[in-house]
Amino acid sequence: MALIIDGNAVAAAVKAEVAEDVSRLAEQGITPGLAVVLVGDDPASATYVAMKERDCEEAGVVAFDHRRPADITQEELNAIIDECNADPRVHGILVQMPLPDHLDAEEAIARISPEKDVDGFHPASLGRLVRGIEGPRACTPWGVMRMLRHYGIDLNGARAVVVGRSTIVGKPMALMLLEENATVTVCHSRTRDLPAVCREADVLVAAVGRPKMITAEYVKPGAVVIDVGINRGEAGGLVGDVDFESVEPVASAITPVPGGVGPMTRAMLVSNTVAAAVHVAGR
Ligand code: GUN
Repeated sequence: MALIIDGNAVAAAVKAEVAEDVSRLAEQGITPGLAVVLVGDDPASATYVAMKERDCEEAGVVAFDHRRPADITQEELNAIIDECNADPRVHGILVQMPLPDHLDAEEAIARISPEKDVDGFHPASLGRLVRGIEGPRACTPWGVMRMLRHYGIDLNGARAVVVGRSTIVGKPMALMLLEENATVTVCHSRTRDLPAVCREADVLVAAVGRPKMITAEYVKPGAVVIDVGINRGEAGGLVGDVDFESVEPVASAITPVPGGVGPMTRAMLVSNTVAAAVHVAGR
């Protein structure tokens, strides 16, 4: 029986830490603010954004909601970002991904002031991560790191395998694990004999976006398995990238979906936003 890693409990611990900063900021008359830009009507993105805004409000972070139809132009999107960059009430800016195909996500991300880049997607933030300099870290992998730390999972010298090489999760995840002295392998669609590579992992992170792809065959007995996937199941519910029923008996610890990585992503967004406000207040 594996330990079920409780993302909601760790997220609550993160939010309790953040609450202390929020009350100190309140004494200085500062309310942390997050601008949330949602383009189009993708239902999954709308749900994520609603949950992010709810978590912010609960933590005393005011959310400024910018919803636009799918057919806005790049210039219009850029103008929203410019406005948020200039607004002193806004400490963090989140442009929900993915954007419609005609919009250039790279241009939008690069336009966000690096000090307000609470997603950690800006080239400057990713550069800081590569160089090991403090700065905003991408929320999902940062949340995974926080969860591993909370449960005392030792990464020093551990074999970590990350399945998926996205800029949002896979690549920053690999760098963060490396920073904690894991020996890291990043796998992707061209990796040969993926199950065999995954079976080398002491810590296996699945971030591929394919429902239940990681079965027991991919998991070394006693491995820690982190499921970043959020997929729609056939029955309508959420399913991860990990086939929980087959993997749980093999793993020593595993994150569920929902209730694993998802709440951590949102908690780290709140944390990054409050940290950005603290940074501004201390200047
Ligand atoms: N889409 C999926 N995950 C994320 C995230 O962490 N931030 C943003 N902005 N978009 C996403």
